[in-house]
Amino acid sequence: MQLRAKRALVIGGGGGGIGRATTEAFGNEGAAVVVADLDPRRAEEAADAVRAAGGTAYPISGDVRSATDIEAMVAGAVEKLGGLDVLVTVVGGQVAFVPAVKLHEMADEDWDTIYEVNLRYVARAVRAALRVFLDQGTGGTIVSVGSVTGFMAAPEQAAYGVMKAGLLSLARTVAAEYARDGIRMNVAAAGAIATAVANATVDAEVVEEIPAGRFGRSEEVAGAVVYLASDAASYITGQQVVLDGGVSVRGPFG
Ligand SMILES: NC(=O)c1ccc[n+]([C@@H]2O[C@H](COP(=O)([O-])OP(=O)(O)OC[C@H]3O[C@@H](n4cnc5c(N)ncnc54)[C@H](O)[C@@H]3O)[C@@H](O)[C@H]2O)c1
Repeated sequence: MQLRAKRALVIGGGGGGIGRATTEAFGNEGAAVVVADLDPRRAEEAADAVRAAGGTAYPISGDVRSATDIEAMVAGAVEKLGGLDVLVTVVGGQVAFVPAVKLHEMADEDWDTIYEVNLRYVARAVRAALRVFLDQGTGGTIVSVGSVTGFMAAPEQAAYGVMKAGLLSLARTVAAEYARDGIRMNVAAAGAIATAVANATVDAEVVEEIPAGRFGRSEEVAGAVVYLASDAASYITGQQVVLDGGVSVRGPFG
């Protein structure tokens, strides 16, 4: 029960991968959760799963590309939960939204889409959550799901890497500006996680390059998100926890 009595909003929490695993983990750890997703059915199913396990969850639908929807998601969570202690941002990616191409072939509108669904909405949601946290005066935690592409080159996914790098920059600024208000922000940076998108786009041979010898599981990312959101991580802020089975620390020799 690492999140007992915490009130949490998980944006993108309805998905079959990291989002759903995070929503369920939050429910299991005692948090009351508002699960927001573009697809209302996914949000409802995730909330149902939390409730079936004895937890508290409410579905809400919204599009992170809309500034109005972001405000409504945060306001809706505050209304349903009677306040907010934790914000988790999950939505992101490149190939789920636009094609993977080399930089010289990338269209402006595709770059903008990747910005909208990976970084711009996070900045908006963080801003809205900060206002709630400061108003409540009881602190708060923010965890964003990032990627190793934020600090390792990802050929054909330049925009994605840039936006994921931006999440860490945002977390560092939140750390510096709001630590004394009891507000923390961290990033859970995932490597190759066995989700529908990764299964469809990551070659099976890649597994050979992973020191762990396998893809990660969504539940393993969710575990880190729970930890970072919990009081057990009360002195950790502005950091990135990397969940990649050792990919980013393995050199090319030996
Ligand atoms: N899968 C991987 O291997 C991997 C690796 C590194 C990082 N990540 C990151 O993990 C996060 C989750 O990825 P995932 O593949 O597990 O996805 P997921 O299965 O958790 O699904 C994400 C959810 O976001 C929702 N969504 C999509 N567009 C939306 C919008 N405009 N507004 C609101 N909701 C929207 C989808 O409906 C879906 O339910 C992303 O930020 C991704 O970059 C994934």
